[in-house]
Amino acid sequence: MSKTAFIFDLDGVIVDTAKYHFLAWQRLAKRLDIEFTEEENEQLKGVSRVRSLQKILEWGNKTISETEFNDLMASKNEEYLSYIDDMDQSELLPDVLKTLKDLKSKKQPIALGSASKNARRILKQTSINDLFDVIVDGNDVSKAKPDPEVFLNAAKLLNVKPEDCVVFEDSVAGVTAANSANMVSIGIGSKEVLGHADFVFKDFTELPGDFIKELINKKYANKA
Ligand code: BG6
Ligand code: MG
Repeated sequence: MSKTAFIFDLDGVIVDTAKYHFLAWQRLAKRLDIEFTEEENEQLKGVSRVRSLQKILEWGNKTISETEFNDLMASKNEEYLSYIDDMDQSELLPDVLKTLKDLKSKKQPIALGSASKNARRILKQTSINDLFDVIVDGNDVSKAKPDPEVFLNAAKLLNVKPEDCVVFEDSVAGVTAANSANMVSIGIGSKEVLGHADFVFKDFTELPGDFIKELINKKYANKA
C-alpha cells in the first residue's frame, strides 16, 4: 500500500496567529481611517498578504498609490513579526505537537502547505521545523489558495500522489484547494464554515482515537 502523506496548513491549524494578523491589520486600517472588524478579519483567513490589503482597501473604499501600498504591506508585516518573535512552543494549538510526533514516529511523510511568507520563521520560533519533511509556503507559489498549487507542490516534493495526501485546513479557501487537488480534506474549525471538507473537527483534541491510523490505512481513501 502506498504511503499516506499529511499536509498541514499553518495559521489557524498549528498556531493561532489570526489574532496577531488582526492586531496588525487593525492598526493599519486605523491609520487609513477604515473600520475593520473581527468578522472582516475572518474573511482574511487563508488569504495572501497582498489580497488581504486589497480587500481592506475595498471595504474602506480607498485607492492608494503602488508605493503607499507597498509601504503599508511592509509596516503591517513589521508589526506582525514583532508578535511572532515573542512566540514559543506553548502557542502550538492543542494536540498539534502530539499529532505531528505520532505521524513522525510512524514515518509518515509530513509537509507544511501555507500561504504565509513567514511560515519558516514561525516553525523555527515554535521549534517544530524538524518535524516537517517538506515546507511549501507563500514564497514558493505563484497562485494563492483556493488554487491547489501549494498542496500539489508539497505532494510532488514528498513524492506522493495527490490522492494519497490528507490536508488539515482552517480556511474556506484552503479546504477548496485541498478538494481541487483531489486530497482528503480535514477542516479544523466549525462545520458551518467548513461544510465542504470531507471531515470537520473543532481542533486536534477532537480527532477520534484511531482516526489517523484509519487515514494511514486508506479507510477514507479519496473520492476521485
Ligand atoms: C495565511 C493567513 O496563512 O497567510 C492569512 O491565514 C495571511 O491571514 C497569509 O494573510 C499570508 O501571511 P503572511 O505571513 O505572508 O503575511
Ligand atoms: Mg489557515
